Amino acid sequence: MIRALVFISVLLSSDLVQLKSPCSYQDVLDHLNLSKSNEVYKLSRPVLDHTRPTHIQLSVVLYSILAVIEKTQTFIPFVWAGMSWTNERIHWEPDQFCGITHFAVPRELLWEPDLFIYEMTEKDSSPKNPYLVVFHNGTVTSEEEIKVVATCKMDLHKFPFDTQQCNLTLGSAMHTADEVHLRPLLNSSRVTEFSRELLLTQGEWEFVSLSVDNYNFSFSGLMWETLVYTFTVKRRPLLHVLNLLVPILFFLVLDVASFFISDFRGEKLGFKVTVLLAVSVLLLILNEILPSTSSDTPLIATYCIVIFAMMLLSVLETILVTFLMDRNDSSLKMADSGNESGPTQHELLCVSEESNHSLKSSESQILVLILDQIRELRGSVSAHVTPGGDPHVHGCVWAKRINGVFVSLYVLTAALFLGLMFMQWVV
Ligand SMILES: *[C@@H]1O[C@H](CO)[C@@H](O)[C@H](O)[C@H]1NC(C)=O
Ligand SMILES: *[C@@H]1O[C@H](CO)[C@@H](O)[C@H](O)[C@H]1NC(C)=O
Ligand SMILES: *[C@@H]1O[C@H](CO)[C@@H](O)[C@H](O)[C@H]1NC(C)=O
Repeated sequence: MIRALVFISVLLSSDLVQLKSPCSYQDVLDHLNLSKSNEVYKLSRPVLDHTRPTHIQLSVVLYSILAVIEKTQTFIPFVWAGMSWTNERIHWEPDQFCGITHFAVPRELLWEPDLFIYEMTEKDSSPKNPYLVVFHNGTVTSEEEIKVVATCKMDLHKFPFDTQQCNLTLGSAMHTADEVHLRPLLNSSRVTEFSRELLLTQGEWEFVSLSVDNYNFSFSGLMWETLVYTFTVKRRPLLHVLNLLVPILFFLVLDVASFFISDFRGEKLGFKVTVLLAVSVLLLILNEILPSTSSDTPLIATYCIVIFAMMLLSVLETILVTFLMDRNDSSLKMADSGNESGPTQHELLCVSEESNHSLKSSESQILVLILDQIRELRGSVSAHVTPGGDPHVHGCVWAKRINGVFVSLYVLTAALFLGLMFMQWVV
């Protein structure tokens, strides 16, 4: 009887003691015998039966697109990665510890899956979260923010109106598919939705979607489970349009306009060559952006090269026309020295048209004076000459014809080409 009473009182007092004693996380740690010196928790995969796989639930959400570097084919996102798994050695009853259901412990105390990103080329330099959270039922969760520097095969055919897809493949380095199972915590539409909400900065790139897929990767008879996160991002083309496409177009317009400059003394030629040089400077900028290893030629390269080639052709045409006119002039001079007859009507037209555009220099003023003299002469001469009959003027006439045909063809080709490029880019 006394024994029974003592037993009950001991029970009661122990109950009272337990109720009164304040609970600390250390009590839970002591209960688990979880400490820095206890290696049991971190040395091996936390399962009590080695044939049981560890299920890892994983999710990646995009925080920000830091950079996309075309030249080196590098994609640099800033992502949030959260995962959870079960540590079978951890278990406590929250009721025994004043309702503590979970708390944070330093990472180095516990085993962590050796997940890595296959595409990652540089060590993450962003600050690390030093804690894991453990739950009473053994669930351990980890959250990290990672600046990923990943290689990404980019398709630059439609640059700068392109959309890129870059993959981040997450998998365990050493644990095969029968040891570690990977499952996405959130499906594709949920991660896209979350990323949209969390996205801090986008810069040049607009986030389109994020999707997740299971992929089993096997090598020499072993198999690894991986999760592939595919980021789809679309370029905002405005900067490149303003920097490259529009200036080149302006230069093309200038080149067309330069056909209306007089052919006098290579002024037109000089102008055209200047425009050509300006375009080649823009080509250098393009060269800095695009990688040289791109397998199929980007449309923008075609755009630049074709416009460059057209301008080159127009320079060559100008040289030809100048040559024809010079020959015309020199043959006329020769004819003048042998034959006393004055200049013909066509020759006068040719020369006067040239000179009218360049009245600034004093020499040309003199030329104009001479021309007036010749015009007076013309009155007497024109009666004896049938129009176009003189073989000496053919150079000049041909030059004008060639010029006319070339300008029409040039404008037509430019319009067709620009239309075609536009269709290719937009579709
Ligand atoms: C707790 O861990 C220490 C250090 O590893 C060990 O010596 C001790 O036996 C463990 N105690 C229990 C109750 O498991
Ligand atoms: C453990 O508890 C947490 C929080 O109550 C819960 O989210 C999780 O699903 C539980 N895990 C298991 C394996 O029951
Ligand atoms: C990968 O392998 C696991 C078995 O380890 C299997 O359950 C899963 O269906 C496989 N996934 C794919 C995409 O083949």
